[in-house]
Formats: sequence, C-alpha cells, structure tokens
Amino acid sequence: MQIRQEVFDDRAGIYAVTHAAFSKDDHLVEPMEVGLVQQLFECDGYSPTFSLVATNDKTVIAHVIATWGTIDGKHKLLGLGPLVVAPEFQSKGAGTALMQAIADRAESEHVAGIVLLGDTGYYKRFGYEPAMARGIFPSEPAWGDNFMVRVFNERALPTGRYRYAAPYGC
Ligand SMILES: CC(C)(COP(=O)(O)OP(=O)(O)OC[C@H]1O[C@@H](n2cnc3c(N)ncnc32)[C@H](O)[C@@H]1OP(=O)(O)O)[C@@H](O)C(=O)NCCC(=O)NCCS
Repeated sequence: MQIRQEVFDDRAGIYAVTHAAFSKDDHLVEPMEVGLVQQLFECDGYSPTFSLVATNDKTVIAHVIATWGTIDGKHKLLGLGPLVVAPEFQSKGAGTALMQAIADRAESEHVAGIVLLGDTGYYKRFGYEPAMARGIFPSEPAWGDNFMVRVFNERALPTGRYRYAAPYGC
C-alpha cells in the first residue's frame, strides 16, 4: 500500500471507492457522499495538499480529504471528511495510514487543528477529542461529542462556531 497526494487521474477511483464504502444494500443508488466529494474538489476550501489516496498496485483503495472551513466566518480551519476505504480493504490499516498521513501533512503545513464529525470510538485513537471542550462549536448542536478536533497548535487554534466548506451546507 502506498499513500500519496491525489492527482486528477485518481478522481474516478476516488468516486468508485466512495460509492462502495457508503453503499448500503442497493449499489444502484449513489450515496450522497459521492456528490459531496465531487463538489469538494470544486470548492474554494479545496487544497490538493489535504487530499490523499492509498493505492494498491496503482489502484485507489482509500481516500481522505480535508477542506478549509471557517470559524465565525473569518478564521480558517480544516474540516476532515469523507474518509473512505474500499470494503474489501477495510480493517487492514488503510484508514489509520491515511489519518496519520493527513496529520503529518497538517503538522508540516503548520495547521492549528482539524475538525471532523465522526465516531468517537474510531477517531479518538488519532488524537481527536470533543471540539466543544476546546471552544469550537458545531453548526448543529446535536452533533455533541461526535464533533471533534485534533489540535496541533493550541495557541493558534481559533475558537467560535465552525462552518464546513460550502458543499457540506452546514
Ligand atoms: C471507517 C473506515 C474509514 C475505517 O477504515 P479501515 O481501514 O477499515 O480501519 P483501520 O483498518 O485503519 O482500523 C480498524 C479499526 O477501526 C475500527 N473501525 C472501523 N470502522 C469503524 C467505525 N465506523 N466505528 C468505529 N470503529 C471502527 C475497527 O473496529 C478496527 O478496530 P481495532 O483496531 O480496535 O480492531 C472504513 O471502515 C470505511 O471506509 N467505512 C465506510 C465509510 C465510513 O463510514 N467512513 C467514515 C465516516 S466519513
């Protein structure tokens, strides 16, 4: 398995993996996450630096993206998601490898923190903690502790209400 920054030719593979990862019973129904990723690639918050793929024999098997959202409309902060692993490669460490790789990128780019909405049981192993305890509030209060932040630079971390990049609509 190799981890690298996404290039344009990876897009079809990324959409296929996103579709497979989020498909429930009916694979003919396109999960909303496919359209979300397509829109994230086109939005102002997109930066290729924070879109990484895992490949196996040059085939995309997993993808993670973080895009720039804002705190109180003025301070930039990365929001992570979706993170997807092709079903046949799940529970083999690809998700973990991508989460570590994007954290390494964030640190080398001097990013203050990354927020995400997800399963606390999965993401706390990567250093994510409830964002509200750090003064970062979600647009949807019901997200509660599932809205998490990984802090890289405490002193530079903005506080206030977070809004994801526009395609999220929240
Ligand atoms: C969630 C997901 C990204 C994890 O990636 P992965 O490569 O399968 O996971 P890893 O191999 O790195 O880690 C496996 C561990 O994660 C746990 N795990 C996997 N999915 C989980 C979930 N949804 N909730 C909690 N824990 C989860 C496994 O139980 C395993 O735990 P263990 O190490 O204690 O045995 C992947 O399963 C996936 O793509 N799921 C469908 C899409 C999705 O839900 N994405 C996340 C929301 S955007």
